[in-house]
Amino acid sequence: MLDVPVERSRIQHWYGENAPHYDELTAANEAVPKARALELLDRQPGERYLEVAIGTGVTFAEVVASSGIEGAHGVDLAAGMMDVARARLREQGVEHAPFSLADATALPFPDGSFDVVFNSYMLDLIPTEEIPVVLAEFRRVLRADGRLILVNLTEGEGSDTEFSAGWKQAYERDPEALGACRPVVVEPMARELGFEGLEREYFGHGASWPTEILTGCSP
Ligand SMILES: C[S@@+](CC[C@H](N)C(=O)[O-])C[C@H]1O[C@@H](n2cnc3c(N)ncnc32)[C@H](O)[C@@H]1O
Repeated sequence: MLDVPVERSRIQHWYGENAPHYDELTAANEAVPKARALELLDRQPGERYLEVAIGTGVTFAEVVASSGIEGAHGVDLAAGMMDVARARLREQGVEHAPFSLADATALPFPDGSFDVVFNSYMLDLIPTEEIPVVLAEFRRVLRADGRLILVNLTEGEGSDTEFSAGWKQAYERDPEALGACRPVVVEPMARELGFEGLEREYFGHGASWPTEILTGCSP
């Protein structure tokens, strides 16, 4: 797995700067796995839902539209991304979006605060040695038997192998041009952290960027 040679402050800055046109850069390449992840999430009204790295709020808005705002909370590192997410929620009639600026390596919530944690396209920009730190935070804030849904840029399989090789070459030249995101395979680390019932689905083959959806439960 490639590492992430970009400082956290640079990542925060990059996403803040690119927030206004972020959806144009990514939406078409992520829509299929995100739709499937929301299907797997199947959040029920009132479930305590934490979305880490809400970005421009695309999935958060869908979750709130289908299961309500009560018990939902979103965090992100970049204020600019959160501003776009807030505007999206306002259009949906949510005046005071339940968002906080926070770093996934140190979530500002007590143990066992949530029934479900959702995180998409963020672990792929976390330095390799910090991914277990983030997964441990997810586990800590989940209640026992709480659900985890992760969506990550991953290594291309089959006909996507060449695409991933090209992505990694480009990444080594200029990681910031790719939003610091490189392919990751998270299941072994999630297993190491004690998550149970892990299941992985792969998406790509022209329908999206090579993407893994990983679902599991906290012990
Ligand atoms: C590639 S975007 C994905 C956004 C959104 N989850 C989506 O799928 O469209 C990565 C997001 O992670 C946020 N982020 C990066 N590092 C983070 C960290 N350590 N803690 C919380 N959010 C972080 C960025 O600000 C950005 O909004």
